[in-house]
Amino acid sequence: MTKTFDASMPSASRIYDYLLGGTDNYECDRQAGEAFVTALPNARNSARATRGFALRAARYLAEQGFDQILDVGAGIPTTPNVHQIVHEVRPGARVVYVDNDPVAIAKGQALRDEDGVITVEGDLRAPASFLNNPGVRDMIDFSRPVGVLTVAVWHFVGDEHLAPAPAELRAALAPGSYLALSHACTENLTPAQIRAGEALYKRTTNPVKARSREQIEALLDGFALVEPGLVPLHEWRPRDGDPYPEESPEAFAGVGILRSP
Ligand SMILES: C[S@@+](CC[C@H](N)C(=O)[O-])C[C@H]1O[C@@H](n2cnc3c(N)ncnc32)[C@H](O)[C@@H]1O
Repeated sequence: MTKTFDASMPSASRIYDYLLGGTDNYECDRQAGEAFVTALPNARNSARATRGFALRAARYLAEQGFDQILDVGAGIPTTPNVHQIVHEVRPGARVVYVDNDPVAIAKGQALRDEDGVITVEGDLRAPASFLNNPGVRDMIDFSRPVGVLTVAVWHFVGDEHLAPAPAELRAALAPGSYLALSHACTENLTPAQIRAGEALYKRTTNPVKARSREQIEALLDGFALVEPGLVPLHEWRPRDGDPYPEESPEAFAGVGILRSP
């Protein structure tokens, strides 16, 4: 289910790269990014707050002792990357990046793969696409707890995959694994903003869907939420010196620990 590369069609990874000030984007992504900012004036802050949560969650997982991290919907490399934050806390931890976007995969493999770090193609809508990848199996021992990041990716997963995909992912994880996620939430968006955002992303490779707090919480069924629970991105364990302290009430974030069955 990898997307085919089309430089004339905007993609979520390249629009996000543009909003973060990156250079791995095309004219169509910049136009889509600007249209998104017009519809949602806080969009740039929201992208930065998303990145901030991804990096804080990665650090948190490393601080909890995880030495194997799976980052699904990892995006185009940024500075710092998740593995660099993880290695500050746990040198030698293994980090697997997964994405279904050709640019995110190619850039990840070119810029990020090093000892103990790989980037593979895979699709969160069909977790077997990466869970059964022999390269991933070489890196991650699924009989032990894994720290899983799924930041700003579930809102690109359509309703038809929303129940089976989390269940399939959960079934592959050992109790004690952590799942971190963020998701665009209808709670702090106006109906006009939701309509505009969804209409805009319909014209990209990644249709988007904002969901209610209850629908987002359901993605963490079987997991016990750690403090502070499911909260706006910037309220999830902010840190002094956070490189992305921007506020974004438009998306919610949380981390859960997989309970024993
Ligand atoms: C907004 S970016 C977030 C990147 C990174 N997780 C972060 O928070 O900084 C969303 C990423 O999810 C990827 N993505 C979207 N749908 C996906 C799917 N079904 N499977 C895997 N990756 C997906 C996109 O290609 C993009 O790179």
